[in-house]
Amino acid sequence: MSASSTQHLYRSALLRFAEDGTALYDEDGLLATAADERGVQRVVAAGSWSALAREHAHLAVTHLPGRILAPGFVDLHIHYPQTDVIGSPADGLLPWLENYTFPHESRFADPAYARGVAQFFLDELARNGVTTALTFGTSHVAAVDTLLQEAQRRRLRLIAGKVLQDRHSPDGVRDETEQSLLDTEALIQRWHGVDRLGYAITPRFAPTSTPAQLRGAGELAARHPGVWIQSHVAENLDEVRWARELFPQASSYLGIYEDFGLLRDRAIYAHCIHFDDADRALMRSTGAAAAVSPTSNLFLGSGFFDYAGAQRIGMRYGLGSDVGGGTSFSPFRTMLAAYYVGREGQTKPGISLSPEQLWWQHTAGAAQALGLAGVVGNLQPGCEADFVVLDPQATPLLARRTQAASNLAELLFAMIVLGDDRLIERTVIA
Ligand code: GUN
Ligand code: ZN
Repeated sequence: MSASSTQHLYRSALLRFAEDGTALYDEDGLLATAADERGVQRVVAAGSWSALAREHAHLAVTHLPGRILAPGFVDLHIHYPQTDVIGSPADGLLPWLENYTFPHESRFADPAYARGVAQFFLDELARNGVTTALTFGTSHVAAVDTLLQEAQRRRLRLIAGKVLQDRHSPDGVRDETEQSLLDTEALIQRWHGVDRLGYAITPRFAPTSTPAQLRGAGELAARHPGVWIQSHVAENLDEVRWARELFPQASSYLGIYEDFGLLRDRAIYAHCIHFDDADRALMRSTGAAAAVSPTSNLFLGSGFFDYAGAQRIGMRYGLGSDVGGGTSFSPFRTMLAAYYVGREGQTKPGISLSPEQLWWQHTAGAAQALGLAGVVGNLQPGCEADFVVLDPQATPLLARRTQAASNLAELLFAMIVLGDDRLIERTVIA
């Protein structure tokens, strides 16, 4: 292969993050990438054009004036089979699950149906600039195989899992304890670490699993420390009450997962709203991370994630769309909703999250929560070169507001508040 197809050089504005989360911005930036031994493009240089251009003078330049290169977004929590559940109104989480979500997910028993949704879902992630996602499947093995096959074809870094739910679930989505654990083991063998793919052990949430299923999930998690875990916790007050009734011996709802060995590095728990400081400390000490899902929490009326509490105790967190409880695939919508949730000051302290912080939560911070810092979610040397090309002129109002921005914070905030899929001109997969 010629050098020109294994190496790339871009000249454009460039956004990336330092290790401490500080946003780094070069108005006239350079990004150089080269294929590694597996054929994955990795960043070999990133910084200012004037400082770095000389070393790369032998390469043809893709010049993108007026555009911004930024890390591909990382969605910490999404449900691919809920693509068509978006916008289903309900009186809170539990009726929403019963009336819309479980009946819809039962359709994924049909692999042909699942394939069509998987293709649409991956197209929609790309259109919105999301290059890595941790996604739920359904309880159907073939629906997870289908999604991972499609992701493999697209060379995506995607993590997915078959949902475990062996009780309090209707026919069509309920699985069987022993078989569900055998299926999970087989899926791990088949997919985890293949190309850029990963597997996540996926108990839906404590109320829909028997103690035996949770114990089996925890045993799998101990046998496969590199495999992810994903579930839900402390999203809604009725759900919290139900979980506590079913597991009265646990120290808290989160404590149920601890008791079954399901809190560790690479364990991602959606929501984490109705927590106390002991729960936050348990998240921190175990290395588990919260997938904050603000559009979902606002849509379902679940509550408001306490950012000040999370920061005070030092637990890990990042952003997820939680489609289809969440209302949008767009990271801009999710970051804006996170800002609203942060501001809310009646149920917990209201704080103003900075635009750099919001963007970090959906890129480098989310990658760090996954244990993938330095791999995705950033454009520092060594990272896999998944990135977006942003067009800040995409709409008249965006053009006007971003042109008036006098510093990086104003520029990022204008894009967070006014942006959507139109801002994503191109998504480039390593
Ligand atoms: N808790 C259990 N299942 C779900 C789900 O599908 N979505 C959300 N938001 N919460 C859940
Ligand atoms: Zn969810």
